[in-house]
Amino acid sequence: MSSTQSFDVCVIGAGPGGYVAAIRAAQLGKKTCVIEREYLGGVCLNVGCIPSKAMISAAHFLEKLRNDAPEMGIEIKTDGKSTAKPVDINVNMKKLVTWKQSVSERMASGVAQLLKGNGVTVIRGEAEFSSANELKVRTSGDGKSDIITVTAKNFVVATGSRPIEIPGFTIDEQKVLSSTGALALDEVPKRMVVIGGGYIGLEIGSYLRKLGSEVVVLEAGATLLNGVADRECVQVVERKLKKGGVQVMFNAKAKSYKKNGSQYEIEYESVGKIEKIKCDKILLTVGRRPNSDQTGLKKIGVLIDERGFIKVDAQRRTNLKHIFAIGDIAGQPMLAHKASHEGVLVAEVISGINRAYDVKTVPAVVFTDPEIASAGLLESECTSRGYTELMISKFPFAANGRAVSLMETDGFIKIIADKKTHVVLGVHMVGPEVSNLISEAALAIEMGARVEDLAFTIHPHPTLGEVMMEAAEATLGHAIHVIQKPLSRAETANGATVTRT
Ligand code: FAD
Ligand code: NAI
Repeated sequence: MSSTQSFDVCVIGAGPGGYVAAIRAAQLGKKTCVIEREYLGGVCLNVGCIPSKAMISAAHFLEKLRNDAPEMGIEIKTDGKSTAKPVDINVNMKKLVTWKQSVSERMASGVAQLLKGNGVTVIRGEAEFSSANELKVRTSGDGKSDIITVTAKNFVVATGSRPIEIPGFTIDEQKVLSSTGALALDEVPKRMVVIGGGYIGLEIGSYLRKLGSEVVVLEAGATLLNGVADRECVQVVERKLKKGGVQVMFNAKAKSYKKNGSQYEIEYESVGKIEKIKCDKILLTVGRRPNSDQTGLKKIGVLIDERGFIKVDAQRRTNLKHIFAIGDIAGQPMLAHKASHEGVLVAEVISGINRAYDVKTVPAVVFTDPEIASAGLLESECTSRGYTELMISKFPFAANGRAVSLMETDGFIKIIADKKTHVVLGVHMVGPEVSNLISEAALAIEMGARVEDLAFTIHPHPTLGEVMMEAAEATLGHAIHVIQKPLSRAETANGATVTRT
């Protein structure tokens, strides 16, 4: 049986880009549908951001119980006996994974309710363009499959990305896992080799280590998180990984693997030499590629760049004026909040609101231990953009009362500002809860704030947010809770330090 449905807006893919675009378009009065082949909420809610953070929270909790609780005088009782060092805490992986799944399901069912409540039609199935104005959707349900034809005035392609594979390593989710397989493991692997020391490898590798795996990271480059995070921030994480027992091999390029007894032996190239390493599971996290080779996009003439991203303009319009693209498929950074921002943007553009993608920063967070967060420019980017004189200061979490009371004092907040104007150019953080602190920095950068704006804003005590205020004060040479040599008037740029316009 085949039927045709027509809409003002048809969104393909219900990830954080697509479902947000659909809701906003419906809010603006457009007859809207969203087509989804797998799960409402996309990668992010089902096999990405949310489940990985659930696992990270659990592992963090476990580590606090093991390491910090006894020092705080909290002793776990087993059979009526208290243990001073509760090393015997059991991790029930099956239960943990079930709980993690329930977190994702709760979020995905929330998306379903929001779509319904806003009057968005949800079509379950795989969409493919048959022409520039028409999609065929292969639906499946009740054991039957069907083809629906969907026409629309505007289409939004939000079909996301998938893991990259490298020669010698095909993801089968048994031996060679992607993040999806790793998040579903219901046993802690004894020894895991992680290929790729980027976002996913470090987030999953770190929590697996805390849950009990031996973890070795093979990174092809000379540093972790190369180009995406401030070097000094990364160094703090590198030290903590080492202390926690995660082994990192730099300049190590994975080549192949084979079965060796009950284990797998990986061959990797390191500085021209072939080395071998054994493990029980392999986690391949060497990046993600946009799904632009699917959905019939090439067939209808949508232009795609050499890295596989759909070419879009500042309003996220493709070369075909009625087709828009957002999220992972429309370019870096591949982050959920960037996808959602674009989702709102395209829905408004389609509805006649004249907007463009003109953000100054897409803040980024790596949920390692401690977390790394950044907004704005790295120091090297400031220099390459012509800022010749910079004010740079750091303030440590070790000097903050809230951090000490949390027993989480590793890290700092670094502020980079233009010495001529004192305008904040970049904020880089490593430490407790920096994922929640970075939004203040993003707002400061969007508003063109000066360091004085941050320093003169009263931050409540005792909070981790005070570190932001003191880092700003430190750029002006007068942080209170570290001993600083006062800056001369010349050093603080034309003496313009303590007034605010
Ligand atoms: P997706 O979320 O990939 O959604 C695309 C949807 O389109 C999917 O549901 C797919 O099934 C559907 N689809 C594809 N083709 C078709 C078709 N032909 N027909 C119908 N449906 C189709 N980002 C963050 O910002 N913070 C994080 O903490 C974070 N953690 C992550 C952890 C992991 C393990 C991973 C893998 C990613 C993480 N990300 C994180 C990245 C984030 O998940 C992506 O940037 C985000 O999901 C992109 O959203 P999207 O809407 O573009 O695509
Ligand atoms: P990534 O791009 O972050 O890191 C990949 C790493 O693999 C790089 O360091 C690279 O040098 C290394 N590499 C490449 N080939 C290799 C080889 N043959 N051997 C060894 N190392 C090799 O990619 P990842 O971790 O897969 O994440 C993909 C994307 O997902 C991220 O870029 C990010 O956009 C998104 N993400 C975001 C998160 C967040 O916001 N917290 C969390 C997880 C993913």
